[in-house]
Amino acid sequence: MTRRRPLLVGNWKMHGIGADLGQVAAIADTAARHPGVEVALCLPSTLIDRAARLRPDLAIGAQDCHAAPAGAFTGGISAAMVADAGASLVIVGHSERRSQGDDAAMVRDKLMSAQAAGLDVILCVGETANDHAAGRGAHAVAAEMVASLPPSCARERLIVAYEPRWAIGTGRTPTAAEVKAVVRRLRETLADSGHGSAAPRILYGGSVSPDNTARLLEAAPDGLLVGAASLAPAEFDRIITIAAAAG
Ligand code: PGA
Repeated sequence: MTRRRPLLVGNWKMHGIGADLGQVAAIADTAARHPGVEVALCLPSTLIDRAARLRPDLAIGAQDCHAAPAGAFTGGISAAMVADAGASLVIVGHSERRSQGDDAAMVRDKLMSAQAAGLDVILCVGETANDHAAGRGAHAVAAEMVASLPPSCARERLIVAYEPRWAIGTGRTPTAAEVKAVVRRLRETLADSGHGSAAPRILYGGSVSPDNTARLLEAAPDGLLVGAASLAPAEFDRIITIAAAAG
């Protein structure tokens, strides 16, 4: 299999206002200097339009979307709305959304809505600290992925992000061997579950930093989902540079 360009996705979570658009431009500049990697930035919905206009050369994503295409859902933002604002991708099933009530059925519906709106989808899955400690991590992650995937899904527009819940924002990361084992398990599960031949990228996310980028990318060569470190331009710059050098 030919090696794909690693994809590095920043997830700004609930951070960023107009005054931070300079950081978006800095990240786009870094990405432009390193054509050997792909870079995308998942921003708060309020910044998508401005960021996409400022730097059409950078892939901009949303961090969530509503499952319904439209309706009486005060505060909701549909997939078509984020696409209209200039996003080309969206995260669904992030553990911070799952912990606020997004169950597998809802994640499935969001994924379908997002693909129907023409967006690429990053589906996040990850095991709890208990499952990890009990050695059930790979099994739990694969089961969560299967439960979150609709029966018909455009594989070529699907990206799976393995994000151990206990690693997000904690500074703790799994070993390279653990990441490799889960990535392999997810790849096998996707191959077994049919629906087309496209093999979705499988990213790793959770406390990615410049110090562990090379190790984690070796274990998850398709790419990384980066939270806190993507908010610090110098750190994300280093992550992109290290990933480009490793390619
Ligand atoms: P983190 O977040 O890099 O800050 O751990 C990753 C994520 O939540 O996607």
